[in-house]
Amino acid sequence: MPPVKQPVVSVLLDPDWASGSLVEDVRRGFASHPRALPPKWLYDDQGSELFDEITRLPEYYPFAREHAILTDHADEIVAASGATTLVELGSGTSEKTRILLDAFAATGTLECFAPVDVSESTLRTAAAQISQRYPGVQVEAVVGDFTLHLAHLPRHGRRMVAFLGGTIGNLYHEERAAFLGALADVLEPGDSLLLGTDLVKSADRLIAAYNDERGVTAEFVLNSLRVLNRELGADFDLDGFSYIPFWDAHMERMDLRLRSEMPQRVTIPGADVVLDLASGEEIRVEISTKFRVSKVAAELEAAGLGVTRVWTDDAGDFALTLATKA
Ligand code: SAH
Ligand code: TRP
Repeated sequence: MPPVKQPVVSVLLDPDWASGSLVEDVRRGFASHPRALPPKWLYDDQGSELFDEITRLPEYYPFAREHAILTDHADEIVAASGATTLVELGSGTSEKTRILLDAFAATGTLECFAPVDVSESTLRTAAAQISQRYPGVQVEAVVGDFTLHLAHLPRHGRRMVAFLGGTIGNLYHEERAAFLGALADVLEPGDSLLLGTDLVKSADRLIAAYNDERGVTAEFVLNSLRVLNRELGADFDLDGFSYIPFWDAHMERMDLRLRSEMPQRVTIPGADVVLDLASGEEIRVEISTKFRVSKVAAELEAAGLGVTRVWTDDAGDFALTLATKA
């Protein structure tokens, strides 16, 4: 066994959220229609734990489907990528990524694993575990924002960037184009992107996946208000809101909102905002876009990433696309 290499963790985010872009995001988001919060603020320590619980819910099929695709095809993915560095964006616990790391371990070709996430404690725990389990692989974790910090990714070796969990669907169309363009810019010819996307399916199953019986998802979404109370001294009363997930068939996306159940005034001193909410008024907390394989390919190609191969599960619920920079 080669000796364990200690993980290196670079912190690119300001550790004090309130002094950073949270204030700007809150001002802009609450002034827009519908009122909206950007999703990265869902993942404080408690939010990350709740998300981990979501991945184990029977209703939340995307995790199991993507897991199955990785289990069935990890060897092909690793071979097709030819990578020596694996970058993972929005890595969270990197639970599914271990399937890829196992396949890389079998070929002995991986030198570096670089997980990137805004959730520092989740990232540090995952980085430590992965260093122990894959001695010989240098773990270079980055506490950062994948919409801002792509230029700071490790540059050595042939790289594959994994972006799993359907997280790209949490970006709006223009944001996706900007993100893919920025990523293509920092990749070298031969580097690749492994992109996980949830696919369009019946509204019933989609809604169930975002509205589980135990209410874990509702708790996860409501936790965003707790983040604002803690970080910005806001006085959101969580009991005054209910969770409303709906399927927007025209945009082909889940639209996840909180509805104010009464007229209420909320003050957010840290952002200098006073919010008057009408009864029934909604705050969008997240979108989760669902794709068709052809749409994924078109968006990748538009960014200069050519589709090498697409894998789906037997039910056609989820897709993994490997795209290579020309
Ligand atoms: N990849 C994991 C986790 C998906 S949840 C999986 O497939 O199960 C989304 C993850 O992305 C969370 O860990 C969250 O903290 C992270 N995240 C969300 N927005 C981010 C951003 N702008 N930059 C970096 N990480 C982000
Ligand atoms: N990337 C995940 C998805 O779009 C994130 C997610 C899962 C999520 N469940 C959620 C976001 C519930 C908000 C609310 O599926």
